[in-house]
Amino acid sequence: MIKKVLAVETSCDDTSVAIVDSSAQVLTQVSLTKDLDHAIFGGIVPEIASRNHSTALLPLVDEALRKSKLGWSDIDGLAVTNRPGLMGALIVGLVTVKSLAIAKEKPMIGINHLEGHLLAPFLKDETYQPSFQFGEPYIALAVSGGHTTIYLVEGLGRYKILGATLDDAAGEAFDKFGKMLGLGFPGGVLVDQWALNGDAKKFQLPRSMIHDETLNMSFSGLKSAGQRLIQELGPEETEKNRADLCASYQQAILDVLLTKLEKAVARYKLKKIVITGGVSANSGLRKQVELLAAKKSWTVAIPPVRYCTDNAAMIGLVGVLRLQAGERHDFDLGPSPSNWDNDFEVL
Ligand code: KG4
Ligand code: ZN
Repeated sequence: MIKKVLAVETSCDDTSVAIVDSSAQVLTQVSLTKDLDHAIFGGIVPEIASRNHSTALLPLVDEALRKSKLGWSDIDGLAVTNRPGLMGALIVGLVTVKSLAIAKEKPMIGINHLEGHLLAPFLKDETYQPSFQFGEPYIALAVSGGHTTIYLVEGLGRYKILGATLDDAAGEAFDKFGKMLGLGFPGGVLVDQWALNGDAKKFQLPRSMIHDETLNMSFSGLKSAGQRLIQELGPEETEKNRADLCASYQQAILDVLLTKLEKAVARYKLKKIVITGGVSANSGLRKQVELLAAKKSWTVAIPPVRYCTDNAAMIGLVGVLRLQAGERHDFDLGPSPSNWDNDFEVL
């Protein structure tokens, strides 16, 4: 019987360990994010991420067990993100989990990071639980630093890609704009904060592909337009208009995401929606989705911020469900920078 799974997430720069049980309860989650190590370079440096995982991971495993007052005898299996992600970063998590699985004689499974994001709203802990029973099928918008994709979720392991960004991810567009404005790294949360006091109508920025029939998106034109606008304004005016720039830029991203989501809902006649991934932490997105949901009678699940950004709990949930279903991986399991061919069906 698989009841409790210890999970590890190291696909990007966050090192995270969680213990999740078969009722989706997060017994503990401990994470280390070293944004400052990357901030001076203005973006994630894969080599630094890998080095940080290699020092942080085992102490976090110990901490997770200690905090949850569990021992290895209470753990029934191990789950680890093995795809997609930064190769060096994935290798640290994967090799560590394989060694633990051998040493502790536990079954283990490699998990797709994006599948973790898709199931994250169903996690529970002392202060959060999904407010309703949310069965499949549903529409999911997964929006992060590396991905911006709309899925049709039909069940565990049954995911169809309905549309995706053709170039940059929305999170990347946020981060690059934050960098152009000199806000620091990662830019997304900082643009969000500045946007709170800005006028979203002050600057006109493009909403590429918003009227396009497909559910695909594009954010590279917005990024270039943002850069041109900053150049035209010059440093003094940019500084003066920082809040309005952030609000206008953020609204351009949100308009595209929400319009495509509305199209997906209409096309597939499903009013159950999950919004997940790092950008779902955006306060403007959360507010506007809520308004839209009330207007359109949608049922929307958005995880709390700790399960929106990269975290091991979401990997633990997929892990416990898949291990319970009898799935296992052998010790020759490798990392992959991209999805496996059969992870998602592209419509
Ligand atoms: O899911 P995640 O933690 O990592 C990836 O798998 O990429 O997402 C990280 C992305 C970054 O681009 C970050 O700037 C963005 O999520 N992000 C935000 C906010 N918080 C994180 N973007 C906009 N507003 C936020 N509040
Ligand atoms: Zn992620």
